[in-house]
Amino acid sequence: MRTEVAIIGAGPSGLLLAHLLARRGVESVVLETRSQAYVSGRIRAGILEQSTVDLLDEAGLGTRLRAEGYPHRGVYLQWPGERHHLDFVDLTGRSVWVYGQTEVQKDLTEVAGDRAVYEVSDTALHDIEGDQPYVTYTDAGGTGRRLDADVIVGCDGSFGPSRDAVPAAVRRTWEKSYPYSWLGILADVAPSTDELIYAWHPRGFALHSMRSPTVSRLYLQVPNGTDVAQWPDDRVWAELATRLGDGADGWTLTPGPVTEKSVLPMRSFVQAPMRHGRLFLAGDAAHIVPPTGAKGLNLAVADVGLLAPALVALLRDKDPALADRYGEDALRRVWRCTHFSWWMTTMLHTSEDPFEAQLQLAQLRSVVSSRAGATALAENYAGLPIGR
Ligand code: FAD
Ligand code: DHB
Repeated sequence: MRTEVAIIGAGPSGLLLAHLLARRGVESVVLETRSQAYVSGRIRAGILEQSTVDLLDEAGLGTRLRAEGYPHRGVYLQWPGERHHLDFVDLTGRSVWVYGQTEVQKDLTEVAGDRAVYEVSDTALHDIEGDQPYVTYTDAGGTGRRLDADVIVGCDGSFGPSRDAVPAAVRRTWEKSYPYSWLGILADVAPSTDELIYAWHPRGFALHSMRSPTVSRLYLQVPNGTDVAQWPDDRVWAELATRLGDGADGWTLTPGPVTEKSVLPMRSFVQAPMRHGRLFLAGDAAHIVPPTGAKGLNLAVADVGLLAPALVALLRDKDPALADRYGEDALRRVWRCTHFSWWMTTMLHTSEDPFEAQLQLAQLRSVVSSRAGATALAENYAGLPIGR
């Protein structure tokens, strides 16, 4: 089989890229190891920044988001005894939207048609340094296949083969692991807050997020290696109540039936270059951020927002300028978001060190008491326009 762009991975970056290319008349095929139902059902991100919403709108994918998503003006930052609202609209003119990755994925799946091929195995990249790269794989029926293309794009997340296809002598990686994980729950209960609460607490960080007026999403900082079996629902709700300040100033956390529970380890990872020969990397294939600050999905969308016009110029107009700059342009935003996610994570997650705790509280007070401090957080959280 032959196509113009072979895309590996049908997560948000792969499917969105295929859609943006199709709108400009560029053909692609997306290869995915998992089933369509599995990819669409994965509970992951929940917050879209303004530029992500703008890009989805421009791509004709904003209808359901506008009807069923929830715009939020900002977030609450709190520590014991104090809760402060940061109003991003007031501070920066930009806002964020609550709209789950599951919904983005459904919207993308609907427009993907038969461009996406699911349940493939043995995906391997070949000749990325030549003019005729290709991908080999085994299809769902067990038949070996070859997909020839002008370029290959690795959108295959943190465990796919694309990032390792860049020769070791060329690639550079930066990595940081954190000494804590998140225990996340999804619950069929109305959120106990109108906007997200990021809570610093001596017992560990907690986050109250949501998916809709009837579904809440909450997270607790837990030690690495935590087994979900150690956290029956009652224990999760009791710990959330303590860390989120149930009872303070009349605020209460309403528990409800838990429908999903999982532990998420946290790390930062960046690989450069994001382009080598005929291979381009986008999304989690090139970079991972810890979830605090909700940047992962937004960064994947921003990469694709740069890459789609670059590939259209390369393949339609034979103009390589944007494709040549893609890696450098994308990495500027990647490092900005890597810093922001690291900063949010280290400001809010507690350790055994009492000195560090005092520094965190000093940092939090400075963010909420200075317009400059609050604006810096708001600009990063609500996100810069793509291309800046
Ligand atoms: P992915 O969504 O990982 O998609 C990659 C795809 O490639 C997968 O479908 C995978 O099956 C496929 N693949 C892998 N190997 C192969 C292969 N060999 N051949 C073919 N296909 C392959 N981000 C936020 O912004 N906010 C959040 O709140 C947030 N919460 C998260 C919670 C969890 C539990 C996780 C895991 C991530 C979270 N993220 C969050 C990060 C966010 O989900 C990712 O950044 C986003 O999914 C990246 O999209 P992607 O398309 O680049 O990669
Ligand atoms: C969610 C996840 C985050 O990492 C975050 O900072 C905010 C919200 C969520 O899953 O809703």
